[in-house]
Amino acid sequence: MRTLRFRSSAFLAFTLTVAAMGGPRHGSAALSQSPSAQDQSDVWWKHAVIYEIYPRSFQDSNGDGIGDLNGITSRLDHLKDLGVDMIWLSPIYPSPQVDFGYDISDYEAIDPQYGTMADFDRLLDEAKKRNIRICMDMVMNHTSDKHRWFIESASSRTNPKRDWYIWRDGKSPGQPPNNWLSTFGHSAWQYDPKTKQYYYHYFYIQQPDLNWRNPEVQKAMFGAVRFWLDKGVAGFRLDAVPTLFEDPSLKDEEVQPGTNKFGDPNESTSLQENLPEVHNVMRDLRKLIDSYPGNRVLIGETYLPNVQELYKWYGDDRHDELQLPMDMQVGFINKLDVAEFRKKITDAETKIGDNQPLFVFDNHDNPRLDYRYGDGKHNTEIERMLAAILFGSRATALMYYGDEIGMTTTIPTRVEDVKDPIGKTGWPKEKGRDGERTPMQWDTSKNAGFTTSDHPWLPVPPDYKTINVAVEKPKSDSLLSWYKRLIALRREVPALHSGKEMMLNTNDNHVLSWLRQTEGHPPVLIACNFTANPQTVSFNLAQDGVTGKHPSTLLKSPGARDPASLDKIQLPPFGVYIGEVK
Ligand code: BGC
Repeated sequence: MRTLRFRSSAFLAFTLTVAAMGGPRHGSAALSQSPSAQDQSDVWWKHAVIYEIYPRSFQDSNGDGIGDLNGITSRLDHLKDLGVDMIWLSPIYPSPQVDFGYDISDYEAIDPQYGTMADFDRLLDEAKKRNIRICMDMVMNHTSDKHRWFIESASSRTNPKRDWYIWRDGKSPGQPPNNWLSTFGHSAWQYDPKTKQYYYHYFYIQQPDLNWRNPEVQKAMFGAVRFWLDKGVAGFRLDAVPTLFEDPSLKDEEVQPGTNKFGDPNESTSLQENLPEVHNVMRDLRKLIDSYPGNRVLIGETYLPNVQELYKWYGDDRHDELQLPMDMQVGFINKLDVAEFRKKITDAETKIGDNQPLFVFDNHDNPRLDYRYGDGKHNTEIERMLAAILFGSRATALMYYGDEIGMTTTIPTRVEDVKDPIGKTGWPKEKGRDGERTPMQWDTSKNAGFTTSDHPWLPVPPDYKTINVAVEKPKSDSLLSWYKRLIALRREVPALHSGKEMMLNTNDNHVLSWLRQTEGHPPVLIACNFTANPQTVSFNLAQDGVTGKHPSTLLKSPGARDPASLDKIQLPPFGVYIGEVK
């Protein structure tokens, strides 16, 4: 079994195994409205379906084997059809591409591999025509070592930008300042022979950490944020944001027993991440985006150890930090355990005040759903079920490209094929993230319609002949049709759009079920069979104040029956039932 690289407590570990502009029946959040003019209880991002695009892998338009902006624009109709409200674009800025864009060398331009600023503007316009917003990935923890800020900073100890990064003397000759590790393996300190000091990098050596204790850093980074806000983007996904600050004492991290995948000692990371200072920056950033019209949104890449920590990222009940820090607790449980899902979803309902949860089950840093949840026999059924949890819950939904067709994790089998640097340094224990970044599968033509090149940057998985958009689109029982239907229901059915959520049958270890309720409309019941055996469930909703007695099907897994009553809802293996109670 391949190991997962990011444990839920944050990035560091590598130790785990394994527009809408409102729905049609509801108020809409016009792009021009300011937060005060908009009723925040029904603001667009609370109901949104957010779709992550890894631009290198989505659609190539110029035949170089690498996806690009014009490619994305050409595929907007697919996203419109699916029901996407906002696209989160993984980084498209100029970059040496050591970390495939997460090493940025200019925050206010487009990497020529992906196109031009004119291409970006066209993408923004075309998306807007389809009521789709664009969210940028903002990497604030570090820059590329080829960014001019770092080049200046490294040029001499007295350069005015020296303090923009974290430079320190070694402990003794040849010894880094302390024992801190990079989450991508080995010491987090890199020696610079020219100025005879070390710089700190939480990620790759080519990704030096910015010094957020220097106010000029915040000013410069907020300038980049303004640049994109002025262009009209709807918000930002804040990359690795818990790592902005480090403990200034530079004390050693606590060493724990054993070694990690890179052969380094296991260590705590409490001095390297989640420091309280980060919340001041988040409040300032929130003020900045709120000074723009149109309800712009901040999404956080917040791998946190528990829901209590997550609550802080909202600015708890002050609501003055991120609107949508990612809840990684639910989607990355990584095993089909009903009790665990029920607990984590209930936590999201009860422990973050009246903030809005954001659920995410998949991204470009972890093996896809098939790998983490599949049993090899019922993968599609399981993926239907996970989609029902994602779109059937009250949370804002974040999905990853290719989930809608059931793309599979395709891990390189030879180290010489690996593109992601951690897969090279960590081989064979860590094989990198190429497996979840393979090209989008559009049709049955060469390279799945992703590129006309003979050399896509990552190989197209062999299953593309059957798993692709063109084949699945016309089939009413395909995974793609299931996704579309679920997303449409979420928009159209009032209880699914904005109803509160209540767990049902809380002693059942086989079936996860919950109710969505909003005043004046029939409640909706959702039941998911977490087992490979058929299950029959019954519900007594009178005790929950529901007067209706008859289930009226909205959506059910292929093979499921329309139930005659709430006493006998039959679910096939990993089957889903969604119905109004009338
Ligand atoms: C991104 C990773 C990236 C890392 C360093 C993460 O949050 O999702 O893909 O390698 O940040 O920027």
